Amino acid sequence: MKTIIEPFRIKSVEPIRFTTKEERKKILTDAGFNPFLIHADDVLIDLLTDSGTSAMSSDQWSGIMRGDESYAGAKSFYKFEDAVKKITGDEFIIPTHQGRAAEKILFSVLGGKGKYFAANTFFDTTRANIEFTGAEAVDLLNETGKHPEKRAPFKGDMDVDALEGFIKKYGRENIPLIVLTITNNSGGGQPVSMKNIKDVSAVCKKNNIPLFLDACRFAENAYFIKMREDGYKDKSVLEICQEMFSCAAGSTMSAKKDALVNIGGWLSLNDEELAMKCRNLLIVTEGFPTYGGLAGRDLEAIAQGLEEVVDEHYLQYRIRSTEYLGEKMLSNGIPIIEPPGGHAIYIDAKRFAPHIPAEQFPGQSITCEMYIEGGIRACEIGSVMFGKNAMMELVRMAIPRRVYTQSHIDYVAEVLIEVYKRRNELRGYAFTYEAPMLRHFTARFKQL
Ligand code: F0G
Repeated sequence: MKTIIEPFRIKSVEPIRFTTKEERKKILTDAGFNPFLIHADDVLIDLLTDSGTSAMSSDQWSGIMRGDESYAGAKSFYKFEDAVKKITGDEFIIPTHQGRAAEKILFSVLGGKGKYFAANTFFDTTRANIEFTGAEAVDLLNETGKHPEKRAPFKGDMDVDALEGFIKKYGRENIPLIVLTITNNSGGGQPVSMKNIKDVSAVCKKNNIPLFLDACRFAENAYFIKMREDGYKDKSVLEICQEMFSCAAGSTMSAKKDALVNIGGWLSLNDEELAMKCRNLLIVTEGFPTYGGLAGRDLEAIAQGLEEVVDEHYLQYRIRSTEYLGEKMLSNGIPIIEPPGGHAIYIDAKRFAPHIPAEQFPGQSITCEMYIEGGIRACEIGSVMFGKNAMMELVRMAIPRRVYTQSHIDYVAEVLIEVYKRRNELRGYAFTYEAPMLRHFTARFKQL
């Protein structure tokens, strides 16, 4: 087999700025040892997130020029609606400015004190939007998914027995919705199998509870199903996507991931009454139902992105380039969540720096060292982000879509190898400031 190449040529480039180690030490100290607070211009390779960081195609940029900016009923909305319906099959498509706006609307309508929601793993904004209403969010990840070093094809699956127990415990009347996050971002970018989607869907149907997909990385999830699950290798990724969505009553989506755009999202659903309630709230918080917090040009770019993201040459390149970084880590002894997920490589900070206890944030420590050593920005996903709810101590290197080349990734691996060599010198951190919710975005730290 020949090298799997980037399935595109580069037409427009964006220079990146080099800094010295001494400069980076000062920059990081000034930023309170929180990479979220560093100016992007001071970052060489930015792996903070794969969200909103995609490179758009020339067809998407053409769409930007075609955008219809009419307030109501813009042509671009109908194009967007058709593109989302083609994948989800859902009847009501509500555009939002990003994923959390869809979550905010959905959970404001369905949440409240005394309500319980379950997912394989809730992403942090989803959990926050649920808890903000006074409801509770419970993660029901399968056991294998909790062990970074264990290899399994679908570590994002929900524990179906635990779901049945959850419904018994809290009562179906108190559970407005179940969520499957595909792929499971907080659990390592691991996919959810079609079998699990169907099993969870069956339990939900039996109990008359709607199942929603948190669908941010639906195409990557579908590609893993094609590669790993029996019976899917001859199906197209689009068909697999359609099958996944057909098992659910709706979806929340951040188009900043698998719609290959820099801003956007949606809430899709089939329940007319619920759709009405959501649209009414949308008008208060986002905008008129045919633009929902976006410009017409954004809707065009999403419609085109949804065509491109299910292209199998693209997905082969995408999944392989993530795996490539994972293999480089493993061959140098660096512990990661195995197997590599779709959009990111997750360093297992507990095994990387076992001398730093969870309450001193080993992931934060590695993240800081990566920046100082090589100007790489990554993201802690552990006790800083989730506090006592953290199941693992991870550092996520999220890979923006279509942005970095193989030599960028080789450089990332070289920096990590350097940091790993002096892992015993890494020190813990403590908060000097923390916000009451989603504290990782704005926290400041001191080195211990
Ligand atoms: N759900 C999942 C699984 C996500 O990964 C994200 C965002 C959201 C919902 C919220 O979407 O950002 O458009 O409001 N994840 C980004 C990340 C921020 O870096 O993983 P949003």
